[in-house]
Amino acid sequence: MTTPHQIIIDTDPGQDDAVAILMALGSPQEIEILGITAVAGNVPLALTEKNARIVCELANRPDIRVFSGCDAPIARPLVTAEHVHGKTGLDGPTLPDPVMPLQDQHAVDFIIDTFRNAPAGSISLCTLGPLTNVAAALERAPDIAPKIKQIVMMGGAYFEVGNITPTAEFNIYVDPEAAKIVFGAGIPLVVLPLDVTHKTLVTKERNDAFRALPGKVGIAVAEMTDFFERFDKEKYGSTGAPLHDPTVIGYLLNPDLFQGREINVEIETGSDLTLGMTVADWWRVTDRPANALFIKDIDDEGFFTLLTERLATL
Ligand code: RIB
Ligand code: CA
Repeated sequence: MTTPHQIIIDTDPGQDDAVAILMALGSPQEIEILGITAVAGNVPLALTEKNARIVCELANRPDIRVFSGCDAPIARPLVTAEHVHGKTGLDGPTLPDPVMPLQDQHAVDFIIDTFRNAPAGSISLCTLGPLTNVAAALERAPDIAPKIKQIVMMGGAYFEVGNITPTAEFNIYVDPEAAKIVFGAGIPLVVLPLDVTHKTLVTKERNDAFRALPGKVGIAVAEMTDFFERFDKEKYGSTGAPLHDPTVIGYLLNPDLFQGREINVEIETGSDLTLGMTVADWWRVTDRPANALFIKDIDDEGFFTLLTERLATL
């Protein structure tokens, strides 16, 4: 048996974050979650850390260690997205408040200690929100950079342009200084931008397949994506919610479902007009060195088959 992916999930739940966490929890043969670190993003930190625990308990996994991290970006005020995710960040289903404890250790300390104490290249970071926790860890402990196997992140946009401004995707926009640190750290990056997540839509058929799953997880996911889809339907006229964050876990489980290019990606931090833009040199018109595998396409049918079968195990 191949060694499972040992991962830390850094997240700002968020309905799509929740589905990503559930997909990972439904894949114990391939994925070992060492910890979940919450960051401020879709909603404030007090809610993202609570939502992360709610999701673990929904999957009957109160053993998972959840850590609370940074409550604001490195150098600017927090921007949240209640207009997309609702005031709780997990609007849609009615889920009980968590009983499982939050870990006492700060998320940034957990990230630093975990990588310092592990063999180099043995653990992947899966980031589903703003990169504040990761950048803070790299700033405080630059020695961990070469220890990180890869960062598989949902963030950025190029052909699809922005979703929070005309040029920027939310996760990068909230903390562009943090993103600049991460993209400049020399760590292997796999970036799942809006270019691919907007091709990963929860159509009615797919939502019905969630709803038909046995147990409480399927209906909760169906209700989350029912709530979550209205923003993109109104804005893009899309045929369902884009499942942004689960593509990160899907990539870990089956990278052959995805296609992209190793290119240079820089982060705009100086211009108010294009703040947080991922300047992706897709056509390689500069001599800037490649620093990311930037994903553009997905076998969306294959992805949803994989996602649905993993949710069915919970
Ligand atoms: O732009 C989409 C991203 O922003 C997703 O991670 C969503 O959860 C929000 O964090
Ligand atoms: Ca997210």
